Amino acid sequence: MKIILFIFTAFLATVSCDPPLKYDSIFSFGDSLADTGNFLRSGALRFPCPFVTVSPIGITRKERTKKEKKGTSSEAYGLPYVPPYLSLAKGEKVEHGVNFAVAGATALDAKFFYDRKIGPLLWTNDSLSIQLGWFNKLKSTLCSSKEDCSNYFKRSLFLVGEIGGNDYNYPFFVGGTINQLKAMVPLVVETITKATSVLIEEGAVELVVPGNLPIGCNPVYLTLFRTTNKAAYDQHGCLKAYNAFSKYHNSQLKLALEKLRQKYPHANISYADYYGAAKRFFHAPLHYGFSDGTLVACCGGGGPYNFNNSARCGHTGSKACLDPEAFANWDGIHLTEAAYRYIARGLVSGPFTSPPFTFPPINAL
Ligand SMILES: *[C@@H]1O[C@H](CO)[C@@H](O)[C@H](O)[C@H]1NC(C)=O
Ligand SMILES: *[C@@H]1O[C@H](CO)[C@@H](O)[C@H](O)[C@H]1NC(C)=O
Ligand SMILES: *[C@@H]1O[C@H](CO)[C@@H](O)[C@H](O)[C@H]1NC(C)=O
Repeated sequence: MKIILFIFTAFLATVSCDPPLKYDSIFSFGDSLADTGNFLRSGALRFPCPFVTVSPIGITRKERTKKEKKGTSSEAYGLPYVPPYLSLAKGEKVEHGVNFAVAGATALDAKFFYDRKIGPLLWTNDSLSIQLGWFNKLKSTLCSSKEDCSNYFKRSLFLVGEIGGNDYNYPFFVGGTINQLKAMVPLVVETITKATSVLIEEGAVELVVPGNLPIGCNPVYLTLFRTTNKAAYDQHGCLKAYNAFSKYHNSQLKLALEKLRQKYPHANISYADYYGAAKRFFHAPLHYGFSDGTLVACCGGGGPYNFNNSARCGHTGSKACLDPEAFANWDGIHLTEAAYRYIARGLVSGPFTSPPFTFPPINAL
């Protein structure tokens, strides 16, 4: 779940030896795609949450550590992970940035969902505005004057998301229709772009704002919205209407970011096309080594997509595959580290950031 962040972390290391120093720190906001521990620290664990707590989470890393004596790229570079905000000790010095992402987080505030009776489903109330609040609190320990902060933040990379996926997941999972959910898209997009402006006003100059993944290729969606109507599927086995929904969100987000670029011409606001980067392996699984396919989860409790809500990954009745690298999907909702690696490559070595974001070269990729 964290591979994308690990790879971004690696930029710090590659550039710390040779001039010019590109970034001193990374600040990351979002959900489970980037959470490195905030959810566990937040105390929101009201029910057993195997997605983030129990075995077999982490098997890929353990395996690799055994085989190659190195795991992720940040480990290979001897760099610490960007620490989760909620694990910072009081007064702890922040060296290379902080991760504010929380698994299950939404862009919109929890109130939006509680007002619509979807609230009790929420894993966490730590929405984007809560995460921004944490950033503001931390800021006073990083820099003092406006000028001081601008100088600090212009040497930082800001990842604003991925966020927004859960805003749609929760209502879809309780029967929301695509047409109903389309009405939410402008609100979600506005929340993401507002957060981006707040960060720019604070002095951020280098920002990456990711879009959503193709949810129509996700085992949870494929299981919940399974149909005998063949026309509902594309030639790769994904649900067309749900992928179109992801694209709709992404196109709205891109338009909004374009407006933001006009408002803040001094900032580099890059859109990260997670959808496009992931689409490559859904279209050509074997080319990416996904010999067991891209639509069936590695870890789950059976069914055509190995997703069973009564036996989710980590629960009794589920088991993990032996070789997660042969699967694009990990637990029905999140991708495997192998899949995130291909997405990260697509961002770093092009062409899935626009305007193209110049990342320093990373040998480990
Ligand atoms: C989120 O807020 C609601 C309403 O205030 C509360 O009932 C709920 O327990 C909170 N959820 C979490 C996970 O903290
Ligand atoms: C889903 O899991 C439940 C509980 O373990 C089990 O009884 C059921 O047969 C499973 N369904 C499928 C399709 O495997
Ligand atoms: C940001 O924009 C400037 C000016 O266009 C450019 O020189 C720089 O490479 C950009 N930074 C990144 C990370 O793309």
